[in-house]
Amino acid sequence: MGENICRRLEGRHALVTGANSGIGRAIAIRLAQEGASVAINYVTHPEAADAVVKEIVDTGAKAIAVQADVSNEQQVDAMIEQVVKELGGLDIMVNNAGFETQHSFLEMPADAWRKVLDVDLTGAFLCAQRAARVMVNSGTGGAIVNITSVHQVIPWGGFAHYCASKAGLDMLTKTAALELADQKVRVNAVAPGAIKTPINQNVWSNPETLNDLLRKIPTERMGETDEVAKAVAFLSSDEASYITGAVLFVDGGMTLYPEFRHGG
Ligand code: BGC
Repeated sequence: MGENICRRLEGRHALVTGANSGIGRAIAIRLAQEGASVAINYVTHPEAADAVVKEIVDTGAKAIAVQADVSNEQQVDAMIEQVVKELGGLDIMVNNAGFETQHSFLEMPADAWRKVLDVDLTGAFLCAQRAARVMVNSGTGGAIVNITSVHQVIPWGGFAHYCASKAGLDMLTKTAALELADQKVRVNAVAPGAIKTPINQNVWSNPETLNDLLRKIPTERMGETDEVAKAVAFLSSDEASYITGAVLFVDGGMTLYPEFRHGG
């Protein structure tokens, strides 16, 4: 039996970055199911972006694919222009694009550090700023949702660049929310925990590392991408009309200090 999804985003126009796989893909599909027209941003693998567009269009909703490297200012400007023109507006901006690489702190090349900060933090800044300008100028405002991570608060060995970018995105969210609150633009974050996607396939495809991961999650399972997407849809909608500068953790309790669950 299918889920009964309310169409609380009817008439809205959304842009989701990194929407050709994983969490971004699920967000794009969910926003469309709730009534939004959706732009699917991607940087590589156009065929995957086209597949998401097709999946959405087949349900009768509107979707387009837009290529842009979110860390490139000119490409972001061109993307925002294209989305406004082809969808007819931009009311929902979801900054999901991001990646991680693993390097011990002592060995991390500066280039690896810069690349992650460029995409995961600067990319979200550029898209949020450009989208906010459109939302403010339209007079009707909008909603920005930044996808952070439990690693905005949990330090993670081997991922100093990723943790720093996610912690930075947390404060970017709050500061932008503060500045834009009187201009009808809400800015919030969703912080996923261990969600089963290609980004962590190396961990969940190996029984030993999967078991180690599950010990860190009180619900004793990994999350599904649509469990993150539902939280994003809520924060994008008018049901969250008085919520701004908030971070919603979708992590099965990962941030609850799981080692303390049996006392001791
Ligand atoms: C990372 C995943 C990781 C999860 C929990 C996410 O932000 O992208 O690789 O499994 O955090 O540690």
